[in-house]
Amino acid sequence: MSNALELKNITKTFPGVKALDNMQLSLEKGEIHAICGENGAGKSTLMKIITGVYQPDKGDIILNGEKVTFKNPNEAYDKGISIIYQENSLFPDLTVLENMFIGHEPTKSIGPIKAIDYKAMT
Ligand SMILES: Nc1ncnc2c1ncn2[C@@H]1O[C@H](COP(=O)(O)OP(=O)(O)O)[C@@H](O)[C@H]1O
Ligand SMILES: [Mg+2]
Repeated sequence: MSNALELKNITKTFPGVKALDNMQLSLEKGEIHAICGENGAGKSTLMKIITGVYQPDKGDIILNGEKVTFKNPNEAYDKGISIIYQENSLFPDLTVLENMFIGHEPTKSIGPIKAIDYKAMT
């Protein structure tokens, strides 16, 4: 059985600091993991690499047995990977539903107009 997600030899360097040094991680379908580490350990950098915010300098991301590269978070989202940030920017004037779908709203056409499809969203 192949892992749902596997990271191999992931390295990410920022000016003056190696945030991730040859890291390995493999997750199987249905598992829940907690990534723990002191401030500056590289947790956020890791999450940003998995979700396409950053690209690794070196190493591979293998999703369901297939090597993938994410140029941006939308490409990761299209493969089923998304993130909810700890310090979340919620839009207070929007509903929970609207906040959940920000940037990924299903749409429908009403004549020439493309509108948010609330029924599909619900
Ligand atoms: N965009 C960035 N530019 C420069 N350095 C960064 C950047 N993001 C993270 N770092 C550095 O990389 C290291 C890991 O940071 P981070 O992944 O945020 O750790 P954690 O989330 O575990 O606290 C830290 O030394 C941090 O200062
Ligand atoms: Mg962090």
